[in-house]
Amino acid sequence: MLKYFVVTFTLLFACKAAVDKDVAEDALLTTPQLIKKYGYPDETHQVETEDGYILEVHRIARPGAQPIYLQHGNLDSSGTWVLMGPNLGLGYYLWELGYDIWMGNNRGNRYSKKHKTLSPSDSSFWDFSWHEIGINDLPATIDYILGHTGFEKLHYIGHSQGTTSFFVMASERPEYNDKIISMQALAPVASFIDIKSPYILYIATWLEAVDYWSTMFGVNEFSANDELACANDLFLIGGFDQAQLNYTMLPVINGHTPAGASVKQMLHYGQLARYKNFCQYDYGWYLNFFQYFSYFPPCYDLKKITAPVILHHATNDWLAPSYDVNQLFEDLGNPRGKYLVPYPEFNHFDFIWGIDSRVLVHNKIVSVLKELEQEEKSKN
Ligand SMILES: *[C@@H]1O[C@H](CO)[C@@H](O)[C@H](O)[C@H]1NC(C)=O
Repeated sequence: MLKYFVVTFTLLFACKAAVDKDVAEDALLTTPQLIKKYGYPDETHQVETEDGYILEVHRIARPGAQPIYLQHGNLDSSGTWVLMGPNLGLGYYLWELGYDIWMGNNRGNRYSKKHKTLSPSDSSFWDFSWHEIGINDLPATIDYILGHTGFEKLHYIGHSQGTTSFFVMASERPEYNDKIISMQALAPVASFIDIKSPYILYIATWLEAVDYWSTMFGVNEFSANDELACANDLFLIGGFDQAQLNYTMLPVINGHTPAGASVKQMLHYGQLARYKNFCQYDYGWYLNFFQYFSYFPPCYDLKKITAPVILHHATNDWLAPSYDVNQLFEDLGNPRGKYLVPYPEFNHFDFIWGIDSRVLVHNKIVSVLKELEQEEKSKN
């Protein structure tokens, strides 16, 4: 507990401290502006989903090279893969290694708050969770990347909700498994059985109240104010780790996250934690019947996921504790590897922002890419 307060006060102080020029500037730039500033070839593409959302996809372009699709977590954006700069950003690193990098943005985040007919001020705009992201946004983005590049398959790398939504897609629309050479899951989240995140547990406990409150007041977009958005919040969500967080970079992290999400995404995660399963959104038995023709929401069948899935997890990750990751590994249709980060304090966000993420995670990701490419070649 004492540790918690010490960390909190250090962070509150760090959030307010004077910052250097690049840090202050990077906090305000968009993903494409960051990519351009650091001298990489940026491109912005628009992808329309079957249900009318217009998503912005950011590319670090290497035309003709094997595409990799990176998908961010909840409340995050494409910025997550580049905000730490060329020395640490996974997007830059994979581009340097010869890949064509595509970074998606979920419906409802700052880059994808657009729809053909709905406006973000309509509550129906926000009527989605990561289920809709999985069955609509991911397939549309994959089809766009493959259509644009002429490749038949791509590598997928997801962080947190970027893994949940992949599991939704690959189980509900299994034809998409054939478009995936490898799926690497950083801090994977499916069922919450042993979850330790106070944030999600809080939502799980107060599901009805949060739902009632958001309906009553017409608040359907989940947003945190700047003070709350300080790193303390991230610790509440994902676990403590002072050592791997570069405090100098906090203003940049805070400038890019939270990037927007729907209240329903949070509620759906809260349901997973309460019911300890991996199922579609629960509207209550009466409305479920109209939605699903069953009193209970249908659950995702992870055995249908035939794409090779590799899990990267950490012991201090409150959102993806080892018990849940081991269970997921057993439930998947084609699990290929499960790698525990060899650093006990590593947390949910360290996979992308951690000071030693290059050594502890990113190099492993690269060796998995090479391994599965080799396997793919031998098939043809
Ligand atoms: C933290 O970030 C600053 C600013 O980008 C950088 O100069 C410094 O080397 C980083 N520290 C570590 C330990 O990586």
